[in-house]
Amino acid sequence: MAAKTSRKPKTSVTGPAYTVPGLTTEQGGRVAAALQQRLDALTDLGLTLKHIHWNVVGPHFIAVHRMLDPQVEAVRGFADEVAERIATLGVAPVGTPGALVARRTWDDYAVGRAGAVEHLGALDLVYQGVIAEHRQVAEEVEEADPVTNDLLITQLGQLELFHWFVRAHLENSGGELVTQGARTETDAAGRVSRGRRRSA
Ligand SMILES: [Fe+2]
Repeated sequence: MAAKTSRKPKTSVTGPAYTVPGLTTEQGGRVAAALQQRLDALTDLGLTLKHIHWNVVGPHFIAVHRMLDPQVEAVRGFADEVAERIATLGVAPVGTPGALVARRTWDDYAVGRAGAVEHLGALDLVYQGVIAEHRQVAEEVEEADPVTNDLLITQLGQLELFHWFVRAHLENSGGELVTQGARTETDAAGRVSRGRRRSA
């Protein structure tokens, strides 16, 4: 008869084998899971910004094309910081495209070759989603892990600045955004084109 064994699994289902000092492994696991969602969003944002950089056309091409590369660089850096925080918390960050697509809760960016303001109208919506969720996760982790909160808050300052760069192209002299009330990227891009035709 084989000896009875009572081997415990190497990793707990509720958290990693270890995490940063001062957090329970369950807390570390929860913070890492929330960060994985931010890693997915930032990776997606970096790719989307490059897609726009390549597909923008029309009279404002060079301004928008050039404006986006520093944003891509910064956003890729943010993804790296988030992934390394997940690893620091004792969890393996997942950075593969298939896993991202399987997990994400949003649709692919919907605009192909298009004018600068159409893309910026759609990008306004993309930034709205990323920033709102970054803030939400920053608040959720604040009590358990102020270090992760600080990381996300610092990134938010830059993301909000980039969002303003985008919105400044969509604002009229009365301070209103032409994309106000748009629910989808194509809706936002359409509102921008209709606004431009009306003012032409
Ligand atoms: Fe380029």
